Formats: sequence, C-alpha cells, structure tokens
Amino acid sequence: MSDDIGIRVATAADADAVDIIIRAAFAGTDFGHQGEAELVRMIDGDGDTLVSLVAERDGVIVGHVLFSRMDVDADGQPLAAAGLAPVAVRPGLQGQGIGDALIRAGLDVLREQGIAISFVLGHEAYYPRFGYSPELAARFASPFAGPHFMAMMLDSGAPWPLGGRADYAPAFGRLG
Ligand SMILES: CC(C)(COP(=O)(O)OP(=O)(O)OC[C@H]1O[C@@H](n2cnc3c(N)ncnc32)[C@H](O)[C@@H]1OP(=O)(O)O)[C@@H](O)C(=O)NCCC(=O)NCCS
Repeated sequence: MSDDIGIRVATAADADAVDIIIRAAFAGTDFGHQGEAELVRMIDGDGDTLVSLVAERDGVIVGHVLFSRMDVDADGQPLAAAGLAPVAVRPGLQGQGIGDALIRAGLDVLREQGIAISFVLGHEAYYPRFGYSPELAARFASPFAGPHFMAMMLDSGAPWPLGGRADYAPAFGRLG
C-alpha cells in the first residue's frame, strides 16, 4: 500500500462518504443487491459495531471495513466474536493493498478488545491470507455455513473449539 494512505477509526461524520465507497465498490460485483451500505447503518444504529475503520488519501475516504458483534457459542460457552463485513475499496484503487491493510488493522483492534474469534463470509481465495479458515468455521452451525464461511482465532495459538453456533448481528437478518 502506498505511503499516502492512512487508516483511522471511522466517525459519525464519515457515514455519507463510507456509504458512497460501499455502493461504488459493490456496484461492480455479482453480489446483486446494494444492501451493504444500509447494513452498515443498521449495525451502527443497533450498537453492534465493534470496529469501523476508514482508509484515507489526501483527506478523502477510499476504503472502509466493518467488524460487528456476533452471538457465538463455542463448546457450551459464549465466545466474544466479530463478523467481518463489509469491506470495500474504491474501484480504481483496488488491488493495491488497501483492503489488506484495513482488514489487518481491524483484526489488531479486535485483539486489543479481547475478541476471541472472527468470522467472514467471502471469497475463499482472499480471506485465508489473514488466517481465516473454512475448516474452523465448519465446526459452527450457522445459516451461512458453506465453503465461503470462514473463521479465525484471533490468538493464533488458541485451541480451536470443537463445535458451536455462530449468529451474525440481528441487522444481517433484516437485509432485503
Ligand atoms: C475485496 C476488496 C475489499 C479487497 O480490497 P483491495 O484493496 O482491492 O485488495 P488488496 O489489494 O488488499 O488485495 C488484492 C488481492 O485481493 C484479491 N481480490 C480483490 N477482490 C477480490 C474479490 N472480490 N474476490 C477475490 N479476491 C479478490 C485480488 O485478486 C488480489 O489477490 P492477490 O494478492 O492474490 O493478487 C476490494 O477489492 C473491493 O472493494 N471489492 C469490491 C467489494 C467486495 O467484493 N467486497 C468483499 C465482499 S466479500
């Protein structure tokens, strides 16, 4: 990632710029709907945002990542958990490491917060580089279970739970 890109915590004043980045980034994908921008607002409104970071160049927001609170039970115990979604980088600036830097910075903040596990629903060619594994996620019952459902222990030395259940924040269930 080039030196002129900075990463910082998103503020309420960034909401419109974040919206624009998400809409632009997802417009070119085959995910169909444009619900991600709305999702970010709903998660925030519900108080379920754990980490929201923006990437900035010359004072202009060019990327965003959100991690939201999940309800996870592992081996019969609640486990502090964060779902990664969405992550978006402005078209034209993709493939330069901005998404990578946003995700790694977000994972660091989650570690500082004492979050134990993170889940993501996404491309299996992208997320394993951060430590996400479909094998770990497969141990958890979830409506999103499948090859794109991945998880990682934020302490890489922590033992993997044997099984459990993983539910995203309620806002995900309200996606149109
Ligand atoms: C996905 C996204 C956030 C990645 O950010 P980025 O800054 O472009 O990515 P980076 O520069 O950090 O990493 C580039 C790598 O990601 C891969 N990549 C980028 N978008 C990808 C996608 N949608 N699916 C799979 N791989 C993708 C590139 O092929 C490249 O892989 P390589 O390092 O093996 O060559 C960005 O491309 C984006 O906003 N895409 C549109 C929205 C989206 O798909 N969000 C994720 C939903 S799961």
